[in-house]
Amino acid sequence: MTSLKDFLRGGLTALEPLYPAEEARNILMSLCESRLGVARYAYITDPDFPVEESSGIFKDLERLSKGEPLQYVLGHAEFRGRRFKVTPDVLIPRPETESLCEEALKFPAKRILDLCTGSGCIAWTMALEAKGAETFGIDISPAALEIARGQDFSEEIEATGSHRPVFIEYDILRDEIPFEPESFDLILSNPPYIMESQRESMRLNVVGFEPHLALFVPDGDPLVFYRAVARWSGRLLSPGGTGIVEINEDLGPQTRDVFLEAGFSESRILNDFFGKNRFVLFSK
Ligand SMILES: C[S@@+](CC[C@H](N)C(=O)[O-])C[C@H]1O[C@@H](n2cnc3c(N)ncnc32)[C@H](O)[C@@H]1O
Repeated sequence: MTSLKDFLRGGLTALEPLYPAEEARNILMSLCESRLGVARYAYITDPDFPVEESSGIFKDLERLSKGEPLQYVLGHAEFRGRRFKVTPDVLIPRPETESLCEEALKFPAKRILDLCTGSGCIAWTMALEAKGAETFGIDISPAALEIARGQDFSEEIEATGSHRPVFIEYDILRDEIPFEPESFDLILSNPPYIMESQRESMRLNVVGFEPHLALFVPDGDPLVFYRAVARWSGRLLSPGGTGIVEINEDLGPQTRDVFLEAGFSESRILNDFFGKNRFVLFSK
């Protein structure tokens, strides 16, 4: 039988070629916490805790040591204090996107649309936190939509009297838009925005495991999804309505201009907590 301290020692040796030491340690401690039910500091208080094969943790470590992200190995990711199911069919929700929701919650809205919804993290957050709002999430990927629909927040939905989001399979690059004009107050999107040429600078655990459909856009047309969001928003936002999109930090002014050129009365860049161009906010 392996002790906790030996498991951690072996785990560090396996993960340190892939991650900075501190991150490798954090990943291992989260894994132990989740699979063994021990506290993060158990390696100090209970270093001889027995690590059983039956916990599945050795297989988990094997997946992690091939670069697979912890969230896929565990099957869930935290987003604004909630646990979202994730599989390799959906992007792992990012902290920046939590800020997008926080910004969006400043705008009272009755009907909210989330384009390119993936795991549904934006749509569910808005459904649960923008009280009484009807929320719709759209994605082209049937596998992602299955995950989005399968998120289990039934208890919170019932306790708060919120509406479950409605998830629809649709390609937002298509010409037709399947909603009534001016039927939304708020449109949100975190679309694919990483240029193929940026792929080389990305880490193995993103490029090797997260869905390419969720990540990449052609170098020749990196703003293709923003033009689609602008077109949908031009038609679907009610007068005075607001849109917020997450953006490629290298293309802030260009993305802002997509919305100005589409005729929105306001379009401005918002920075994230590291001071980088992160969102564009536009209004009708
Ligand atoms: C960057 S991910 C964002 C997922 C989620 N909104 C989030 O913030 O974690 C982009 C999503 O866009 C979807 N997508 C890609 N092309 C699309 C298209 N033409 N129409 C609709 N959705 C699309 C992908 O399937 C993926 O789920």
